[in-house]
Amino acid sequence: PEDCRVYEFAEKIGKTAGDVIGKLFMLGMMVTKNDFLGNDEIEILGEEYNIEITIKDELEDVNYVEDYAEDEIDKTNYVSRPPVVTIMGHVDHGKTSLLDKIRSSRVAAGEAGGITQHISAYTVNKNGNDITFVDTPGHEAFTSMRVRGASVTDIIILVVAADDGVKPQTIESIKAAKASGAPIIVAVNKIDKETANMDMVKAGMAEHEMSPVDWGGDVEFIGVSALTGEGIEELLENIIIQSELLELEADPTALAKATVIEALQVKGKGAVATVIVQNGTLKVGDNIVADTTFGRVKALLDDQGKAVKELGLSRTGQVVGLGDVPITGSALVAQKSASEAKEIATTRAEHSRAKELSASTKVSLDEMAALI
Ligand code: GTP
Ligand code: MG
Repeated sequence: PEDCRVYEFAEKIGKTAGDVIGKLFMLGMMVTKNDFLGNDEIEILGEEYNIEITIKDELEDVNYVEDYAEDEIDKTNYVSRPPVVTIMGHVDHGKTSLLDKIRSSRVAAGEAGGITQHISAYTVNKNGNDITFVDTPGHEAFTSMRVRGASVTDIIILVVAADDGVKPQTIESIKAAKASGAPIIVAVNKIDKETANMDMVKAGMAEHEMSPVDWGGDVEFIGVSALTGEGIEELLENIIIQSELLELEADPTALAKATVIEALQVKGKGAVATVIVQNGTLKVGDNIVADTTFGRVKALLDDQGKAVKELGLSRTGQVVGLGDVPITGSALVAQKSASEAKEIATTRAEHSRAKELSASTKVSLDEMAALI
């Protein structure tokens, strides 16, 4: 069931949480002892430990989670952290313009053809509150980027143009947002336009189970204009209220755990990964592993492209120093030593090679069967 934490599972099978975490880590899954295990993971662990596991019916387990009170989670070094807010929505509905207005700088105008082609992330300070924003492209070709954006996010801002209403990538974004489980705020943009129609947007959204609060639903709709700035204060206030409700916390003293939102090979620099730090502090000199590649942090660039010594909680920036380009969406994790980082990456690489090999063997066997 979804409500079994790693350390609870370890207890049940008589292992240490560290042992279970290590096992999952070698299999390419990043968890901490307080994370919940899914049925798939539990099954895999059963095979790995060679033990019989019966997964009980969800209903039988309703009281299960209450057996483990909040205070059993190790939060000694926890501090509150800024929210990570992803902006999603249909192409041209004004995501980048809205973010530009919030940051008081202009990115949208400089983009080729006005189309955002990659994820970009920035931390802004508004009224004493840090908020990390993640911009995603609205074009249909970038579905995977929206999904990726949604997976690192605490709160989602769904931008819908008031003169255009619900469009295919609006619906896609709703799906990605709902799948992520993060709270959603709808920003109805371009309300400065004469043809703006808030009710049309609300009706369109309500059809997709996004009913506005003032219609008896539970989704906040805020009219904004990236052009005039109208409504933006209210939007920011809503974000801050939402993030306070979420009580976002993490441990700045831990070894860093970040998520790769983009990665590419840069001439003269090697592999460069754009990350968002989710726990700990990422520092220059850290031994890191991401997916099947490893290395040492040679340089860190913050969201302004400035060289920095470290990236703190919910901060975003670029990491130089990995041996190869990691897949986006993978966890980039600091290790105690270079040899540990190397071992993990190498084990994973072997694992994925073995998998590929068995997949190709399977195909050829199937093909053979077809020939007979
Ligand atoms: P993609 O990244 O390509 O998906 O687009 P986007 O959602 O980031 O839209 P972008 O910010 O590039 O804006 C698209 C167009 O809408 C631009 O021409 C903007 O000037 C215009 N625009 C954005 N917001 C507003 C607004 O609030 N009012 C008006 N009138 N125009 C806006
Ligand atoms: Mg854009």
